[in-house]
Amino acid sequence: MADQANDSRRTLVAGNWKMHHDHLQAIRTVQELGLRLDPVDLKRVEVAVLPPFTDLRSVQTVLEDRSIPVVLGAQHCHDRDSGAFTGEVAAPMLARLGVRYVLAGHSERRLLFGQDDAQVGAALRAVLRHGMVPVLCVGETAEEREAGRTEERLSDQVAAAVQGLAEEQVAGMVVAYEPVWAIGTGATATAADAQAACAHVRGRLAAAASGDAAASARILYGGSVNAENTAELVGGPDVDGVLVGGASLEAASLAGIVAAAATVRPAARR
Ligand code: 13P
Repeated sequence: MADQANDSRRTLVAGNWKMHHDHLQAIRTVQELGLRLDPVDLKRVEVAVLPPFTDLRSVQTVLEDRSIPVVLGAQHCHDRDSGAFTGEVAAPMLARLGVRYVLAGHSERRLLFGQDDAQVGAALRAVLRHGMVPVLCVGETAEEREAGRTEERLSDQVAAAVQGLAEEQVAGMVVAYEPVWAIGTGATATAADAQAACAHVRGRLAAAASGDAAASARILYGGSVNAENTAELVGGPDVDGVLVGGASLEAASLAGIVAAAATVRPAARR
């Protein structure tokens, strides 16, 4: 079986901690994660944690000092590099902390804080400008799904965010399909629905950039992921990993998801 270490679509398990864990809790969690992760699984699966801003420096230090093979991510950034934007954090600040992944347009930012497509696209470009990897979050609401508008919504969100990007920028990015109705509800999408939505997103990336770029980009599923449903979800050929909220807060639970993702043979994703 091919080792995915150099594969652009190596499985990614990313834990979005949202507004949970102060820096001391974060330190304890990544220390425990370092003990629980199986090095064999990490050949196939890349693991990232996305803590609150106040934890980033502490988590970065622990990961480095203990050589814990977990990548650092952030949940949001502003599109400008500096300025009078009280309460915001700039992409170069995150880059200086060794952050690799930055979410752009998480549905909670869109729905609770009014982030629109233009702001999401601008933030995504700031992430790219500073050498980090954007994780563009897209997904339909329950109303949009019931109205049969899921694909239209995904198309609009993807097109608005990636329009005008270079092919290699699209090839290197991550998109997370997170249906809003599945987030924090326990109502996980079926593996078939997750696969269909991720395939649709890949088709939109191909239309906006190229087939090759789309084939290299990673597309994740998010929404009530846990250790029990991960393997089936990641079994979809277009589902390259998972973006996990609640089940990523405890090290044991996140390590269980990583182990489950690692059971899926890469060939199953082609
Ligand atoms: P849950 O896994 O808690 O449903 O959250 C998903 C999510 O929003 C990750 O970004």
